[in-house]
Amino acid sequence: MSIKSICCIGAGYVGGPTMAVIAKKCPQIKVTVVDINEKRIAAWNDPDVDNIPVYEPGLGEIVADARDKNLFFSTDVDRAIDEAEMIFISVNTPTKTYGEGKGQAADLKWIELCARQIAKVAKGDKIVVEKSTLPVRTASTLKDILTHTGNGLNFQILSNPEFLAEGTAVEDLLDPDRVLIGGEQSPEGEKAIQALVDIYAQWVSRDKILTTNVWSSELSKLTANAYLAQRVSSINALSELCEHTEADINEVARAIGADSRIGPKFLKASVGFGGSCFQKDILNLVYISRSYGLNEVADYWEQVIIMNDHQKRRFAKKIIRTLYNTVSGKKITFLGWAFKKDTNDTRESAAIYVADHLLNEQSSLSVYDPKVTEEQVFTDLDYLDTRSPEENRKALKVIKDPYKACENSHAVAILTEWDEFKDYDWQRIYDSMLKPAHIFDGRNLLDKEALRKIGFQVHAIGTAD
Ligand code: UDX
Ligand code: UDX
Repeated sequence: MSIKSICCIGAGYVGGPTMAVIAKKCPQIKVTVVDINEKRIAAWNDPDVDNIPVYEPGLGEIVADARDKNLFFSTDVDRAIDEAEMIFISVNTPTKTYGEGKGQAADLKWIELCARQIAKVAKGDKIVVEKSTLPVRTASTLKDILTHTGNGLNFQILSNPEFLAEGTAVEDLLDPDRVLIGGEQSPEGEKAIQALVDIYAQWVSRDKILTTNVWSSELSKLTANAYLAQRVSSINALSELCEHTEADINEVARAIGADSRIGPKFLKASVGFGGSCFQKDILNLVYISRSYGLNEVADYWEQVIIMNDHQKRRFAKKIIRTLYNTVSGKKITFLGWAFKKDTNDTRESAAIYVADHLLNEQSSLSVYDPKVTEEQVFTDLDYLDTRSPEENRKALKVIKDPYKACENSHAVAILTEWDEFKDYDWQRIYDSMLKPAHIFDGRNLLDKEALRKIGFQVHAIGTAD
């Protein structure tokens, strides 16, 4: 079966870039991305691709190229479902904030709504593809809803988790390490798997397309994120030990990373991992494990999160301790608010929690990030509900010029590893700050020696300074 028409429900950080790349690589397939958020769809359709809602290097060009040829963005969900032979579900699955499993389980209400809508609208057989990260065995829920509420049609459920990392989404999609497709082990299931394999095979070599049963595929996605997050928490745990022993975490990382069995990636000590996936997926793994009565397994993975929370808190505490145990009324400048460089996504960014901690100590913050809007910074802080929106706006200012942001501050903290920070005129920044001028490098990004020569007191993660 060769697919001619695809629809994707959810025009977010995953759905948008993924569909743009499929459209570009498969000009014969009509790709429609739908979302209930009208503002978001309007932004995807903005004639100026600088205004599309997701910032990813290289994405604007691809969208400009394929949009309105075979790539469409729309709010007409029903029509897109009806027209498509294959439907990707890429809606958000946040951690539950209420009821059973609150704070850990994934909230699947949007997924269920999508399934019900597909069942209601569909007039022909469909292949439904889980793109969102989901708890293992969600496919059986989807199948249940589709077959019991659908009009006697045949639905095949595939799991095709996304492994793209934000900031490198386009690169990851164009040249993936692997593509994973899970499906039912039956003749119909095999056919559906093959239809999706054929799409990716237009630009990914067949030996990189792995096919498995649905449950392995669902669990592999959670496992991949849990392993990556665990590496960051492991190196961060050792960063604290380094600070007490005069070992240097960068040297330790280089030494162990040179062991090919360990490898060099995900060994960068930091103020803590963020992003929409790591925390949510691990909590989800913890919840699933506990629901099977596997308490030791749950505790084991939960420790990764505990370590990450500790790392964020430790960074804030270090700033306070260094500034003579009080930051009340002192201006501290944050360079970076996004959870990592090359993205405007701030979900679970360490910056939010460090800011919250410092604001509780009555510090006054000024924030500069090259891609995050002022509105987003305040949305993140207001969401925590620690202070009123008015208090947040009084204590924190978002400044569009990094040099202005640093003026008259006691300390500059690096929260995101944006490349441009390395090229700043640090002498100029030093001259405009109060003395002693401190830099807290939460990303081990800057050249410590050069900064020390200027006169800065530099405090990095995982070194005894
Ligand atoms: C999502 C999931 O959160 C994550 O688990 C998965 O791994 C990838 O997909 P992301 O694309 O980053 O991640 O989420 P987000 O940017 O929030 O986009 C989801 C979109 O779905 C939103 O634009 C939202 O408006 C839309 N949506 C949600 C619908 O169109 N319909 C719904 O019923 C619910
Ligand atoms: C992650 C996975 O990498 C991707 O495969 C998955 O599908 C979605 O989740 P993403 O959240 O975009 O992608 O970012 P990632 O590059 O994995 O970084 C996550 C966090 O860990 C960031 O805050 C990053 O700054 C931090 N990190 C990463 C470190 O602190 N040190 C490292 O060495 C690597």
